[in-house]
Amino acid sequence: MKITRRTFIKRTLASAAALIGINAFGYSYARYMEPNMLAVRRHDIEHGKIPQHFHNFKVLQFSDTHVGFHYELDDLERLVEKMNQEEPDLILFTGDLVDEPHTYSFPPRLIQILKRLEAKQGKYWIYGNHDHGGYGTEKIRDVMVQSGFQLLQNEHTLIENGSASFTLAGVDDIMLGKPDLERTLENAPKESFTLLMVHEPDVALEYQHYPVDVQLSGHSHGGQVQVPFFGYLVTPPFAEHFVEGHYPLVNGFNLYVSRGIGTTRLPYRFMCRPEFSVFQLKSTL
Ligand SMILES: [Fe+2]
Repeated sequence: MKITRRTFIKRTLASAAALIGINAFGYSYARYMEPNMLAVRRHDIEHGKIPQHFHNFKVLQFSDTHVGFHYELDDLERLVEKMNQEEPDLILFTGDLVDEPHTYSFPPRLIQILKRLEAKQGKYWIYGNHDHGGYGTEKIRDVMVQSGFQLLQNEHTLIENGSASFTLAGVDDIMLGKPDLERTLENAPKESFTLLMVHEPDVALEYQHYPVDVQLSGHSHGGQVQVPFFGYLVTPPFAEHFVEGHYPLVNGFNLYVSRGIGTTRLPYRFMCRPEFSVFQLKSTL
């Protein structure tokens, strides 16, 4: 079929219009829709060291809320309600509470909302790079303390149930803190199942050689934007090897990376929905 000049121009204009339409939709979707499409990622963690008392114990992890950067307190309130519906036994926050501590106003409502999170065996947290950045170290600590969260900064604690327990550990932020895994694990019971919180996932390459069974991280935001057939557009330093999901490494060491809740730098998410994770412990004893 012969294409006339007029048909050619018409088709070119139609294709351009379609492309602009798709891009406009793509933009609106990435900017206004997907960042609000919260997902719950569920994993079973089966391990011979998990005591029977902790069979079906529910650990909820959330990360990287980046409050203040296109993530408001109303969003956080909805998130808290959703997380409480899971009725977790333990809640873990793996860093980056607000996007810019030096410009954020820290309204009292932030604490009121975080305080409402409920977990039978407590709420724990670690520092992320945005928490230490912009002189946020004390400000964020005050908010978390008042919200009922306990900080693990190069230290561990025992989560107890009857006569059984497991070790919960947390290291300081890798980029802007003073992380010290040796000190974190000092005097931890050797045979205990050990769950470690670290903001940046890539240190798993080193930490897999330590007596740790599970590392929970965030920081990557899952790349925020994923391009079909290409993959992650940008991943931050220390989240270039491990970006999202489950990575079984050496010596039975398992790394789980959360895509997190909020966004930073650019307020977009594409093929990378925000998420929190629910881990159910499974004893094989
Ligand atoms: Fe982050």
